[in-house]
Amino acid sequence: METDYESRFVNAEYSASEDNEIELSLRPKTLGDYIGQDKVKDNLSVYIDAARQRNEPLDHVLLYGPPGLGKTTLAGIIANEMGVNFRVTSGPAIEKPGDLAALLTNLSEGDVLFIDEIHRLSRAVEEVLYPAMEDNELDIIIGKGPSARSIRLDLNRFTLVGATTRAGQLSAPLRDRFGVIFRLELYTPEQLSEIVNRSAGILNIDIDPKGALEIASRSRGTPRIANRFLKRARDFAQIMGNGSITEEIANVALAKMEVDNLGLDNIDRLILTTMIKNYNGGPVGLDTIAAAIGEEAVTIEDVYEPFLIQTGFLSRTQRGRCVTPAGYAHLGIPMPGQQKFEV
Ligand code: ADE
Repeated sequence: METDYESRFVNAEYSASEDNEIELSLRPKTLGDYIGQDKVKDNLSVYIDAARQRNEPLDHVLLYGPPGLGKTTLAGIIANEMGVNFRVTSGPAIEKPGDLAALLTNLSEGDVLFIDEIHRLSRAVEEVLYPAMEDNELDIIIGKGPSARSIRLDLNRFTLVGATTRAGQLSAPLRDRFGVIFRLELYTPEQLSEIVNRSAGILNIDIDPKGALEIASRSRGTPRIANRFLKRARDFAQIMGNGSITEEIANVALAKMEVDNLGLDNIDRLILTTMIKNYNGGPVGLDTIAAAIGEEAVTIEDVYEPFLIQTGFLSRTQRGRCVTPAGYAHLGIPMPGQQKFEV
């Protein structure tokens, strides 16, 4: 059995850079080491124990939620806890039905196949996936035109773990074939602080509890961001301090990276100020905002909006997005019709 993450990567898109390698070393390998997402962990451990007792592969699992919350990590943990190989690919990397057939026929009994961005699979590839998920069978067409033949191959039983930023983007027939569906939530500052301390321990970074909480509270509920800030704060601690991350050093690092006291970065603020300056704070359509700031609409929707909605600075209405009074107050911009405001 392969045990380390890198040897399990089957796709060139996922080749490891130095930062990637660090990220891999930070990933928990067991449910016990995984911090947060308690409801997901509790249920998942029941499903894993039950499947193991019955000597069966785990049912197919769909994980959805904003990027950076640990979907790939959780998929790796599932493979590890089930004691099987972990094969990683992504929707855009599977271009043709033949690409998927090659992946499926190379799986050993019980393996986990992880497909990231599963909503980006083409229709033709999805069609091949259905019988594989349901009956462990692969229907492939050989040849073209009148001489084309369809052959059916038996596959080893496997667990598909699919990940997507939004389950709504998935076609209904594909979504219906997952027996387990989990939504990952943004993390609390306390959970992120635990993650930062754990990562600092692994990377041998000296950090005090206040420094960890400062980073955690400004990481928009996302472990990937918290770990990135931890590494950058270490750089500032090394060059501008005595090597250890204190609350003061964390504040300096985050200010230099233009992350404000609630964790908004310059794009978050650009979205809100553009809405206010150009569209009176809304309602304004997503595509209009995207065009105005030069970002893709899906990026705004998947990456920026969940946090701006969670902080209560932006709302989604039938007629479009609006900056809320709290959003105006955070930016220090008076709302139209209001003379006074407090930050
Ligand atoms: N590193 C990134 N995400 C994590 C999590 N949820 N638990 C522990 N360490 C992590």
